Parts: sequence; structure tokens; C-alpha cells
Amino acid sequence: MSKFDEMKKIRDELFDFKESPFYEDRVSEGYFPVIGEGSHDAKIMFIGEAPGANEAKTGRPFCGASGKVLDELLSHIGVDRKAVYVTNIVKDRPPNNRDPKPSEIELYAPFLDRQINIIQPNVIATLGRFSMEYVMKRLGLGDQLETISNAHGKVFEVKTDFGAVHIVPLYHPAVAVYNRTQLPSLKKDFEILKKFMK
Ligand code: URA
Repeated sequence: MSKFDEMKKIRDELFDFKESPFYEDRVSEGYFPVIGEGSHDAKIMFIGEAPGANEAKTGRPFCGASGKVLDELLSHIGVDRKAVYVTNIVKDRPPNNRDPKPSEIELYAPFLDRQINIIQPNVIATLGRFSMEYVMKRLGLGDQLETISNAHGKVFEVKTDFGAVHIVPLYHPAVAVYNRTQLPSLKKDFEILKKFMK
């Protein structure tokens, strides 16, 4: 199956994901699942937490206030958003933007695992604590987990079935939505990604 077809299969399954505790809300609100967006051959894959209201309304990841910050950070390092792939662990919006529960992460994670295997990125940039914890544990780096305030901007390397992957934990862009003074430190962390774009 082509990458496109495999991704489309994930999309179709998510549209029909009645096992999800968010399914009924999504349908009654007229929301969409947020699958992910960008190049299926991306070298860098960004993984956030879960869609917010803007994302669920449009079906596009990071298209609201946090997305504006993400765009600013990408443009700071001269990377076109179309060249990367952006997604979340949880693909439907948790009510009132609450944090996803461990059971919800577990339920949606197999879709993310499949997306990682389709894209086979060189770099996985995790956005926020939930994504960092899931990805590091999933790729066998659970014993190297630190708090996000220690781990942000570091590079962890791991071997996978499709080759070496660099995991770069980053703060969630929402940090700079709530506190603009954090933007320079987020920009500095993003600069680490530049060397992987060559
Ligand atoms: N926050 C996330 O973690 N993901 C989005 O898509 C939007 C906001």
C-alpha cells in the first residue's frame, strides 16, 4: 500500500472511531478528527497533544493560537510547514481542552505509531510533556525520561526498525501563547532542528 493509502486508511478509521469517548461529542458538535498534515516524506515529525476547538472545527492540527506560535517558530528556522509533518497523540478534542487521560492516550496511540512508521522521520519533535513521555517510552527511552524543564532542547537518539531517530523534546507552543516572554527560549530550542533539515 502507498503511504497515501495507508494514511487514508488511518483517516477513515478515525472518522469511524466509535470506541472513542469523544466520538459522540465530535459528531454532535460537527467536529472533525484531526489526523495530521504535511509531507509523508518529512524528515521532521512534530507531535502535539490533542486538538483544540479551532483544530476540531477544521480538521487541521495547530491552526489556532498555538499554531500561530508554531508557524513563527518554524519560520524562525526557515522551515516551510509543508516540508514537515504535524500531528497529535490524541486525534479528537477532549472536552474543555482538558489534558488527555492516560486511557485516552493509550486508545489513540496505535494510530500515531502507524503514522510514525509511514513517515519514518529522522527527527521526532515532541511538543509538550504528554507527547515527550509517550514517544520516549514507546521508543524504549523511558529510563532516560526527565522533566520537560530539563529535557527541552536536548537530542535523544534511538534505533528503530526503519533506522536511527532523533527525539527532540520541545515545550508546547501554547507556553508562548500564555506568556510571550517565553518565545525567545522556544526559538532557541527550535534552532536545534536546523541541522536535521540539510
Ligand atoms: N494543541 C495541540 O497540542 N495540538 C493542536 O493541534 C493544537 C493545539
